[in-house]
Amino acid sequence: MGKVIAISSQKGGVGKTTTAINLATSLAIFEQNVLIIDLDPQGSVGISFHLDEYNVKFGLYEIMVKDLPMARTILNSGLDYLDLVPANIHSEEQEIELYSKALKLDLLKTIIAPIKNGYDFIIVDCPPNLGSMTLNGLVAADSVIIPVVSEYYSMKALGKFLNTLKNISKKYNPHLKIAGILVTMFDKRIKKHKEIVEYLRTTFRELVFETVIPRNSKVAEAPSYGKPVLLHSIKSEGALAYLRLAEEIMKRKNTNKL
Ligand SMILES: Nc1ncnc2c1ncn2[C@@H]1O[C@H](COP(=O)(O)OP(=O)(O)OP(=O)(O)O)[C@@H](O)[C@H]1O
Ligand SMILES: [Mg+2]
Repeated sequence: MGKVIAISSQKGGVGKTTTAINLATSLAIFEQNVLIIDLDPQGSVGISFHLDEYNVKFGLYEIMVKDLPMARTILNSGLDYLDLVPANIHSEEQEIELYSKALKLDLLKTIIAPIKNGYDFIIVDCPPNLGSMTLNGLVAADSVIIPVVSEYYSMKALGKFLNTLKNISKKYNPHLKIAGILVTMFDKRIKKHKEIVEYLRTTFRELVFETVIPRNSKVAEAPSYGKPVLLHSIKSEGALAYLRLAEEIMKRKNTNKL
């Protein structure tokens, strides 16, 4: 059965989109059928694959606002096993329309239902806020990956976000699981980074992925080449880390933790 995984955190710039793209690609390399849905009106997923946004006819906007069936908006990423639905927002008016349609919090869940079992994984990249788009992602999701960076403010935000998730789960999605907490942009030379990872492991135990994503220049520069890091530099530390994360995710799926 297909699993919907939302990549979400209230904090901006922690590696949500980078993780959505590179985890999805890694899963596809393991021959899992994967769809990435971009819920962020910034449209970073499409940009990272160098889809010229004005050549993309349909995307999330048409699905959520114009009631176009999901199947008509799915694009192939150019890679086997990896499809995507870009955000495709061209103006502030469209963004406002989108957020207002999304006030129906189970809209995305309803839209995904007919195609859900055509995929092994549906990865949903959420925007960095708790607005109606993120809530749609969390209501549609079976589980959520929470990326965190090794900084004090990120730890504070994590505690708050876990509480928020509990409340959302109680009200709207009782089956929502935490797929895991993912440390991103880790620098092993920085003592503070190591201390924070230790703190996370002691506090949240197996909820923290064994894989830690290193800060890596190849990961950062890959989107400017319109590629996931695996296609930009397969031997880079960043690419290898995302492959390990994909293995962990497949294991968690097999043991019903997603
Ligand atoms: N492992 C990494 N190594 C180096 N740079 C990284 C890594 N992960 C992400 N980055 C860079 O950090 C920045 C933020 O990453 P990203 O856009 O994935 O975060 P985000 O959480 O999706 O941001 P937003 O909240 O704006 O949606 C980007 O410039 C990205 O290239
Ligand atoms: Mg993002």
